[in-house]
Amino acid sequence: MYQIESKIDTNSATFKENHANYTEIMNQFQQRMESVLHQGNSPAVQKHKKRGKLLARERIYQLLDANTPFLEISPLAGFDMHDNQFPSAGIVAGIGIVHGRPIMIAANDATVKGGTYMDLTIKKHLRAQEIAMENGLPCVYMVDSGGAFLPEQDKVFPDKNDFGRFFFNQARMSSAGIPQIAIVMGSCTAGGAYVPAMSDETIIVRNQGTIFLGGPPLVKAATGEIVTAEELGGAVVHTTISGVADHIAENDEHALSICRNIIRTFKPADTQTIDQIAIEEPKYSPKELYGIAQPDLRKQVDPKEVIARIVDGSRFHEFKANYASTLITGFAHIMGYPVGIIANNGVLFGETALKGAHFVELCTERKTPILFLQNVTGFIVGKEYEQKGIARDGAKMVHAVANANVPKFTVVFGGSFGAGNYAMCGRAYDPRFMFMWPHAKISVMGGEQAANVLTSVKEEQLKAVGKEFPDAERDALKQSILNKYEKEGSAYYSTARMWDDGIIDPADTRKIIAMGIAVSLNKKWKDTKNGVFRM
Ligand code: COA
Repeated sequence: MYQIESKIDTNSATFKENHANYTEIMNQFQQRMESVLHQGNSPAVQKHKKRGKLLARERIYQLLDANTPFLEISPLAGFDMHDNQFPSAGIVAGIGIVHGRPIMIAANDATVKGGTYMDLTIKKHLRAQEIAMENGLPCVYMVDSGGAFLPEQDKVFPDKNDFGRFFFNQARMSSAGIPQIAIVMGSCTAGGAYVPAMSDETIIVRNQGTIFLGGPPLVKAATGEIVTAEELGGAVVHTTISGVADHIAENDEHALSICRNIIRTFKPADTQTIDQIAIEEPKYSPKELYGIAQPDLRKQVDPKEVIARIVDGSRFHEFKANYASTLITGFAHIMGYPVGIIANNGVLFGETALKGAHFVELCTERKTPILFLQNVTGFIVGKEYEQKGIARDGAKMVHAVANANVPKFTVVFGGSFGAGNYAMCGRAYDPRFMFMWPHAKISVMGGEQAANVLTSVKEEQLKAVGKEFPDAERDALKQSILNKYEKEGSAYYSTARMWDDGIIDPADTRKIIAMGIAVSLNKKWKDTKNGVFRM
C-alpha cells in the first residue's frame, strides 16, 4: 500500500485560517456536548442525588470495565427542540465493554421529566435495540422511568415504532439468543413493567425500584384499594412474592456489581473473524483535519487528505486511481482492521457510480467492512447524462450498497444532498453507524438549488395566468427558502432528530470507526446476494 503524500502545507495562511475557523465550530460543539453530558445541579438532579441514586451516565460508567471507552449514541438527541426540556431525549444509550465484551446499555434519565418517554426517547430506545440486534450485543436496560410521556400519548403509544415495539423487540432478541438484563433503579410503570418482565434476569434496588402495571393512584381510582408503592411493586414483593425480579440490591452500586456478575455467565458470542494487523498511527495527525474540513461547502475538499488522517500509516491501496476521479475508492486499515473506503471527490457521474458499485462488490466478496466518506452534492443532471442513462448507472450503485451485507459505516464530512445520500449509504441504507462532522449539512438538495427550483416553479405558475413575479416577492421567497434550508440542513438539526447516531469530533473519526468495526465482529456477517442490476 502506498503512503498518501499530503499536499497540505500546515504552515500556510489558508490552513491556519481554516484551522482557526474550525476551532470556533469545535468550541460550539464542545459547549453543546458539555450541556448534555454534565447535567449541572438542577432541582431534578438534586432531588435524584438526595435519594441516593446515581445519575444515568454515572450508572453506565460504573458498570463498564475500568479505562474502557463508551460509544454513546445520539447524545444531542432532542437538542433545540421542545424548549430543550429533553436533553439527550431523556435516555442515555451506547456501547461499552463489560468483562471484555461489548454490551448495549440504555439508561433512563429520571431527571428529565421523570424518565418518561416522548417520541424521541422511544426512537432512541428502539435505535439502541436495532444496533444490538444487528451486532448481536447483549443489552442492559437501566430502568428509572414513569413510562409514557402522557401529554403526547398520540406520538408514543399506538404506532408500529412506538412504545409497544420495545417488548416485541425484546421477545425477538431473546429468541435470537441475545441476553437482556434489566436493572430496576427507580420507577418502572405501566407498559414499562414489561422491560424487566421480559428480560432474562432482573435486578431491583430495595426501597427504590418499583414495578407495576398501574401505580397507587390508578389502583385507587380503579378499585378503591389503597396501597403503598412498596406493597404494590417494591423490591421485596418482586423478589419474594411475585417473582417478577430475580435479585435484590441494596443500592445502585450493588445492583451494578450484580449485573457485572451476571454478564460474566453469558455464553461467548459467535464472532466474525477478520484479519487484524498491528495498529499504526497515521503519518499525518488527525488534528490537522480542523484545517482541512471546509465549512464553505462550495469549496472542494480532497478526500485523500481526509483519508490520510484516518487510516493506519496514511497507507491507501487505491482502486481505479485514474478512472472516474470524482469518487475515490480503495483499501486501508483503521486501528489494524481492514476497511474499504468510498469517498466523494465531486459530483457523481455514470462511470463514478459503476466504479462505486464495482468496489462495493470487491468489499462484499472479500468480507471487508466499508467506510463511506460523504461529501456529495448528488448525481450529475442534464440532457447528455439522462440520455446516457445516469439513472440506470446510479441505480446499480444504490443496489450494490443496499444489498451489501458487510458492516457499513457512514461519516458525513461535508454535504449530503440528493440521491448522492442514497448511493453513499445514507441512513436509509442501514449503515451500522452514521456520524456527522459538526459543520456537515444534510438535505434533499442545497438551499440555493431548492430556492431556485421553487422560485422558478412559482414564476411558471404566475406566467400561466398572465401575471408577473415582482422582484421583491421573488427575493423574499428565495430568502425564506434559503433560511429554512440553512436551519434544517445543519448537523445539529439532523442529530436532534436522530437522522444519524451523533456528531463527532473529526479527529476522533478513526477511533470511532475502529470501535464500530470491533463491535460488528460480535456477530457473524451474512453473505451478500445481489438481485437484478439493470445493464
Ligand atoms: N407523563 C408526563 N410527565 C410526567 C409523567 C408522565 N407519565 N410522570 C412524571 N412526569 C413529569 C412531572 O410532571 C414532572 O415534570 P416537571 O419537572 O416539569 O415538573 C417530572 O416528570 C418529574 O416528576 P415528579 O413526580 O416530580 O418526580 P418524581 O421523581 O418524584 O416521580 C415518577 C417520578 C415517574 C415516579 C412519578 O412522577 C410518577 O409516578 N408519574 C406517573 C407515572 C405513570 O403513571 N405513568 C403512566 C404511563 S403509561
